[in-house]
Amino acid sequence: MYRSHYCGVVDTDLLDQTVTVSGWVNRRRDHGGVIFIDLRDREGVLQVVFDPDDATMFAQAERLRSEFVIKVTGRVRHRPEGTANDKLRTGQIEVLATELDVLNVAKTPPFPLDDDETGEDVRLKYRYIDLRRPEMAERLRLRAQVASALRRFMDDNGFLDIETPILTRSTPEGARDYLVPSRTYPGEFFALPQSPQLFKQLLMVAGMDRYYQFARCFRDEDLRADRQPEFTQLDIETSFQSMEEILEINEQMIRSVFKATLDVELPEPFPRMAYAEAMQRFGSDKPDLRIDMELVEIADLVADAEFKVFSGPAKSDDGRVVVLRVPGGAAEQGGLTRKQIDDYTAYVGRYGAKGLAYVKVNDAAAGRDGLQSPILKFLSDEAIAGVLERTAAESGDLLFFGADKAAVVNDAMGALRVKLGHDMGRVEGDWSPLWVVDWPMFEWDGRDNRWQALHHPFTAPVNQDPEALKNNPGEALSQAYDLVLNGVEVGGGSLRIHSPALQSAAFDVLGISEDEAREKFGFLLDALAYGAPPHGGIAYGLDRLVMLMAGASSIRDVIAFPKTQSASCLLTEAPGDAAPAQLRELGIKLRAKPAPADPADNETQAQ
Ligand code: AMO
Ligand code: AMP
Repeated sequence: MYRSHYCGVVDTDLLDQTVTVSGWVNRRRDHGGVIFIDLRDREGVLQVVFDPDDATMFAQAERLRSEFVIKVTGRVRHRPEGTANDKLRTGQIEVLATELDVLNVAKTPPFPLDDDETGEDVRLKYRYIDLRRPEMAERLRLRAQVASALRRFMDDNGFLDIETPILTRSTPEGARDYLVPSRTYPGEFFALPQSPQLFKQLLMVAGMDRYYQFARCFRDEDLRADRQPEFTQLDIETSFQSMEEILEINEQMIRSVFKATLDVELPEPFPRMAYAEAMQRFGSDKPDLRIDMELVEIADLVADAEFKVFSGPAKSDDGRVVVLRVPGGAAEQGGLTRKQIDDYTAYVGRYGAKGLAYVKVNDAAAGRDGLQSPILKFLSDEAIAGVLERTAAESGDLLFFGADKAAVVNDAMGALRVKLGHDMGRVEGDWSPLWVVDWPMFEWDGRDNRWQALHHPFTAPVNQDPEALKNNPGEALSQAYDLVLNGVEVGGGSLRIHSPALQSAAFDVLGISEDEAREKFGFLLDALAYGAPPHGGIAYGLDRLVMLMAGASSIRDVIAFPKTQSASCLLTEAPGDAAPAQLRELGIKLRAKPAPADPADNETQAQ
């Protein structure tokens, strides 16, 4: 028998009993002729003592090194007076060893397990050692608990767990596909699913009524802290439910998972906000409402200003001019230094902003004389008074200005708001869920001169008339919803189009020709014509949800074997070359190898 108990659960209940434990040597300390081993397993660390009385065993204990795998039998006893550790469950006791088996030796680990400074590359290369760290083990345990609670809720509410194919055709979620060459059809390719979207809709046509699946999704896109090329969705679809009913059951599920795993009560109901309001007030479609700062529109106040940087965008149709008030940002104590302002200017530059004008409000009651700023001379008294009033600026505040195309202002000032919120300690409360609703169906892509779906092409518009959709795509709102948690999009879904005519109209707006639609989604259009029920659903990013719940800063920290920022696996060194024979069989001939993508190119948007 290797163990009677896990190391981490041996406590005072077992006093004077004999236990057998197995695990890894966390640390060896030699103290006044006695050897202490901290023995570690998945459940925690246990102090084991070796007395010199048993000379053979003692000699063996002296040879133990970090990460050796051993089995120990011994008697549980109180730790000596004054040496207890109240933080550990095992902190009051120790095990006096009577038997020691060395089950395996270990090379010196490539990094000390208790060192938080180890570079991520080393941690990923030796992930099996990294995962021995209690912090990492805890995160994987939480992930398992969250998945299990989600599954329980789905099962209890009549959802059927149904698998969908991994080798499939392209699903349009907006990223590049990972392709898999077919051997039996040389020159043809499967695509790995970006999501099970089309299959779950077909399951509704098939009458499955309520479906869920923990689905692995594959997207070849630029990576960030909250994006992996391969990630896990909790994917859900239901029939004959209104948007209201879908949101309701989803809220119940998320609330039940937070209660079951973190003992946290989330608000009931979750607040909702229209997409347009979120963009207006926070410059983001996933606002973190824990931060109380907002973007204040001032285009009308500066449209006639001499300062072209402001008046240009203020007068243009697609421009925006906003102020972000930073409370205390110009205070003598805790205000921003010149260097910090320069750093924030560089920060917004990464989002395309050409500058970051600012005004220090030294004395809010003194009008122009109470302000300090390089741009003051360009602004009229009325503009200044208007800005002070609209932002409710107080003495000691700093005002940041953003002026550009609306998309740039939203990106840059929205990101600045979040960064300043964290830097200035203005994040209030732990959990802030929010449904973002009333999404536009389409967004104009000025670069390619065409409409793009804001969600995906199967999303139902509020107005289900195909002609209305085609005649006025820019005005159409969709029945889509995103669940945002603390400024992170953790889930997104919609009601779907269930009429072939409306689906064709949506493809038409998107510039997908009838032939192309038939070629790509003919099976879906066919299915819609064979009695499709009204249906809708949602998918959650499990990795993102767990990342937030675990307080981790990257989804890599809640995935056992994640990919790097440049989509490779340092542990297995995937992707790798294919053998010439394999390629020949697949009918593939390689061109000269292009240089690998530079991961630094992807870091601009990392937050
Ligand atoms: P969407 O593309 O919004 O919707 O994806 C749903 C959720 O999946 C998570 N997510 C990711 N997580 C990690 N890495 C990625 N690269 C990544 N991409 C997305 C996000 C996101 O909210 N078929 C639709 C859902 C539906 O309409 O039902 C879909 O996939 O948390
Ligand atoms: P300039 O006239 O370019 O020296 O800019 C004067 C001030 O306006 C500086 O503080 C710039 O950072 C700022 N600025 C320049 N362009 C913008 C912009 N598009 N939005 C906000 N501030 C800007």
